[in-house]
Amino acid sequence: MCGIIGVTGRSGVSRLLIDGLRSLEYRGYDSAGIAVQTEDGLTVLRRAGKLAELDAVVSELEPFGTVGIGHTRWATHGAPTERNAHPVVDGPERVAVIHNGIIENHEVLREELVATGVEFRSDTDTEILAHLVSRELAGGASLGQAVRTTAQRLEGSYAFAAISADHPGVLAVVRCQSPLILGVGDEASYLASDIPALLPHTKRVMSLDDGDVAVLTPGTITVTDVDGVEVERDVRTINWDPVQVQKGGYRHFMMKEIEEQPSAVSATIAQCLSEDAEHIRIPALDALGPRLETIKRITFVACGTSWHAGLAAKFYVENLCGIPVDVDYASEFRYRQMQAGPDHLIVPITQSGETLDTLTAVRQAKAAGSPIIAVVNVAESSADREADASVLTVAGPEIGVASTKAFTTQLVALYMLALDLASRRGALTREQLDERVQPLRRLRFAMEGALRHKEHVRRIAYHFSQARDFLFLGRGVNYPIALEGALKLKEISYIHAEGYPAGEMKHGPIALIDANMPVVVIATPGRVYDKVLANIQEVRSRDGQVIAVCAEGDERVRSQADHVLEVPVVDEDISGLVNVIPLQLLSYYIAERRGCDIDQPRNLAKSVTVE
Ligand code: G6P
Repeated sequence: MCGIIGVTGRSGVSRLLIDGLRSLEYRGYDSAGIAVQTEDGLTVLRRAGKLAELDAVVSELEPFGTVGIGHTRWATHGAPTERNAHPVVDGPERVAVIHNGIIENHEVLREELVATGVEFRSDTDTEILAHLVSRELAGGASLGQAVRTTAQRLEGSYAFAAISADHPGVLAVVRCQSPLILGVGDEASYLASDIPALLPHTKRVMSLDDGDVAVLTPGTITVTDVDGVEVERDVRTINWDPVQVQKGGYRHFMMKEIEEQPSAVSATIAQCLSEDAEHIRIPALDALGPRLETIKRITFVACGTSWHAGLAAKFYVENLCGIPVDVDYASEFRYRQMQAGPDHLIVPITQSGETLDTLTAVRQAKAAGSPIIAVVNVAESSADREADASVLTVAGPEIGVASTKAFTTQLVALYMLALDLASRRGALTREQLDERVQPLRRLRFAMEGALRHKEHVRRIAYHFSQARDFLFLGRGVNYPIALEGALKLKEISYIHAEGYPAGEMKHGPIALIDANMPVVVIATPGRVYDKVLANIQEVRSRDGQVIAVCAEGDERVRSQADHVLEVPVVDEDISGLVNVIPLQLLSYYIAERRGCDIDQPRNLAKSVTVE
């Protein structure tokens, strides 16, 4: 949600800002704008709608300068119009501000400003920032001081950056519980809400703590902490490759990311193995020390696709370790009577590491004394920094809004976490643990095998592309996969889809089944295989059309289903990683056939940084 970019020290800054915003498009937005410090003051250009609208006007006017800020806005306060787009300016248009997050006390501040004669020109909570910074500057403050004094008055979560026509070459930014990173260059400095916007310019990045204010000039960054004391923040080099954030010949990031799964999963497996690659080893568990012995309960907290990975993790941990597990939507967990404490491990699962509900759940559980181990894809993200320790997935940057490789890397990381936990608690012997390594090594080939059926999936997808509803059924470890299949379809094709545990179908969804209802059933070998076959019969006897995900060459399923999506066989525990592939492809091709915007589906944001 909302993308932020800022640059100082580069000529042709307006083009850089547009390119930066394009690399943040995946975050979700409905208007965009830039502000550039020019010889005549500030040039602010904003447009409602997609970036192409803004790009057209920027290309025509090409405001020239070396300092600027840009923003893609996902509307919260005020409609997605040009008037409400960022950057937002003060009255004399000497200050421009971009903001991600929500200022919870904006109404009080707005009234206070109105009482002093300030006229508001937008419906945003952001506009108060421009006026407050402007007032501080008028009183003689530096830009950094003005941003700090303004931030001291705010409640809520925010990252906001300001430029002023009267402070050439300077960018000031403050961060409080919203994503923001700084890019360190030799002769230029950058800020952005995520790494992809910085990658073309620098791989050296700096994270800020909550309350930090940074003042950026060409090639220098000065940080002061919440008390205004100058502090050093670490600069680290990121190992993501700029080509990872390009489409590389694919029409959509989603297909590129689906196809990257075998290598992303292999890289994540390697990350969870010992140096000699023979043993499963999750160093994050070391961080728990003696507390590991006392854990009586685990709760996975997450949102969206990551929550589905949590459901699979429940299966893994309960089966392997015998520890009771809850899986909670972070947005629910944080508002219930908190069940947390020193013997209750909380595991946030988050691709971005910046989902606000997940972070808030973590903060509350931490305050209640729970140990926290995050499963997260972005190193140094808020979740990674705030957890006691993290298991890092190695999906690389995921740009498509619909999560694919982040999900499968989460599944494998969670499985390996459960295995190591089971062994450390004596539920698995060292030998039993080591026996699991080989099947994991072979997993990549099975995933590649599933991808080889792409053309067949496409034909089935085209056949069903006009369906109005879909039902997805699975059991056991494949129940979350059914949920994920349904989520993928509704996210990118806008077809109504429900995922259900197959055994629960008789308690409701069966009423929906008729000849117009495609039902996708996951029927690969495992403990519940025969049960699932019985469920297929129940669908068939009501004229429902069965599309079964089954093992290659499974004649039993083939004879009972209308269509099959074949996959190579792997151990049941890790079958979700393979079975989800045809479901991702099915959604992709249905959405493609329907002409949908696959990488940026309507209303959705990749990173949900507000409640
Ligand atoms: C959004 C995205 C989903 C993602 C969810 C949680 O809804 O569109 O793809 O699963 O947020 O995001 P996280 O970064 O915390 O995994």
